[in-house]
Amino acid sequence: MQLELRIRAAAYALVAALFVTGGTWWMLDWVGALAVGSAWRQTGAYLLMVHGGASMLFLLLLGALIPLHIGVAWPSRRNRKTGLITLAATGVLVATAFGLYYVGHEALRRWTGVVHATVGFALPAALAAHVLIGRRRRAEQPELLLSHGERGPRRRPLGRDGRRLVGSGRRGH
Ligand code: HEM
Ligand code: HEM
Repeated sequence: MQLELRIRAAAYALVAALFVTGGTWWMLDWVGALAVGSAWRQTGAYLLMVHGGASMLFLLLLGALIPLHIGVAWPSRRNRKTGLITLAATGVLVATAFGLYYVGHEALRRWTGVVHATVGFALPAALAAHVLIGRRRRAEQPELLLSHGERGPRRRPLGRDGRRLVGSGRRGH
């Protein structure tokens, strides 16, 4: 279902902020610019501070998306595959973010960071595929457009000519 502009804008802005701050931190770390004594070390700390703050707002957004978006779209089966991929990616990111705070074992924490960053780098692509495929389907089948609070229509099979194979569900008098 089409999301309200404010929620859509918040989703794009937060994913972009998480991607830029997390990705920049990762690159700085990779080139060794975050070592003790480096001039970039403080920048690295600020980047993670903004990243952590954005992740808290992202959790609020995710909480809102469950009833406003996922719960409404789910019964229609539209866009489920890419929706589930996006949801699974955010689930892994939240779980590994918890691990980044609380895993004490050094090697395990390092791997938690690798999984988090890898899935994080893939998240914008998953979301873009989800949005673009959803829009294309909506353009092809505008009758499936849902509004807030409406339950999704179940898809009925189509014949070769594109017509429904079974009736509309309405009965004549
Ligand atoms: C964390 C997970 C998810 C996020 C962040 C997300 C976000 C979005 C966004 C931003 C759009 C574009 C809306 C627009 O253009 O108006 C969209 C479209 C859509 N999403 Fe999701 N989504 C998620 C999971 C799901 C799931 C699990 C489903 C289940 C079926 C789903 C179903 C849809 C559908 C049907 C559309 C097409 C809407 C349309 O253009 O008519 N989404 N999603
Ligand atoms: C959008 C893509 C994302 C990318 C590229 C990304 C990348 C990163 C990276 C590289 C780190 C540092 C890892 C380390 O310490 O080894 C990190 C930390 C973290 N990430 Fe993400 N992340 C993303 C999304 C998310 C999301 C969706 C959440 C949670 C909702 C999240 C929450 C956190 C938290 C809480 C930390 C720990 C911050 C700290 O140590 O102060 N991230 N992220």
